[in-house]
Amino acid sequence: MPIFLDTGRIDEIKTYHRMGFLRGVTTNPTIMLGSGVTGGMPGIIQRTVEIARLIDPLPLSVEVTTNDRAGMIEEARMLAGLASNINVKITIHGPKGEMENLEVIHELETVHNVRINVTAMMSAQQCLLAALAGATYVSLFGGRVNNMGYNACDEITKLRKLLDALKLESKIIIGSTREVLNIIEWLSAGAHIVTCTPGLIKGMIVHPYSKETVQMFLDDAEKLKTML
Ligand code: E4P
Repeated sequence: MPIFLDTGRIDEIKTYHRMGFLRGVTTNPTIMLGSGVTGGMPGIIQRTVEIARLIDPLPLSVEVTTNDRAGMIEEARMLAGLASNINVKITIHGPKGEMENLEVIHELETVHNVRINVTAMMSAQQCLLAALAGATYVSLFGGRVNNMGYNACDEITKLRKLLDALKLESKIIIGSTREVLNIIEWLSAGAHIVTCTPGLIKGMIVHPYSKETVQMFLDDAEKLKTML
């Protein structure tokens, strides 16, 4: 299940879902905002349900909108209850490094049976703890890791080795894609899934030399059809 789409836009999801290679969709509040979602919480719920129905049975990740302990649990349960293919994103910790999030993640997975995608992670060590806490998905932000001067590939390889050795079932999602190269590079390094921005998917498909070659075939096909 290697390619997910990192967007909240219905037109983009429809376009690539029809092509058959997508295996899931991820969003976050920033993506929802940039995807034109309005109408407060009802608006978020409406777009969530719309995407979930559109891609069913493929998984959709939607993030909670609070870092309050009780609020995260309540909202995660509500979001997960909207459709059977929804999993919920919880950040590894709060904006000031508050550490209750891992407790929340563990409780949601083990007590409330909610599949959690632990997000906003920048290192293999954060992902390892999230995996040990029972997360279904661990999301490492590859582009941000590289921007900080580290190599996302090294983090991915270390993490995958550990998850396999410890027989942990969490799947590694690498997000924060910046270049077309990231997708193959990060999958080759050991990521289970790369969640890509729609623009990069287009960059994977369309190649200038393929365009030129296809035009050559079409031009010669026309000539062939007039050959008697
Ligand atoms: C991943 O799951 C996130 O939604 C996303 O890829 C973050 O990307 P950014 O670093 O471009 O914000």
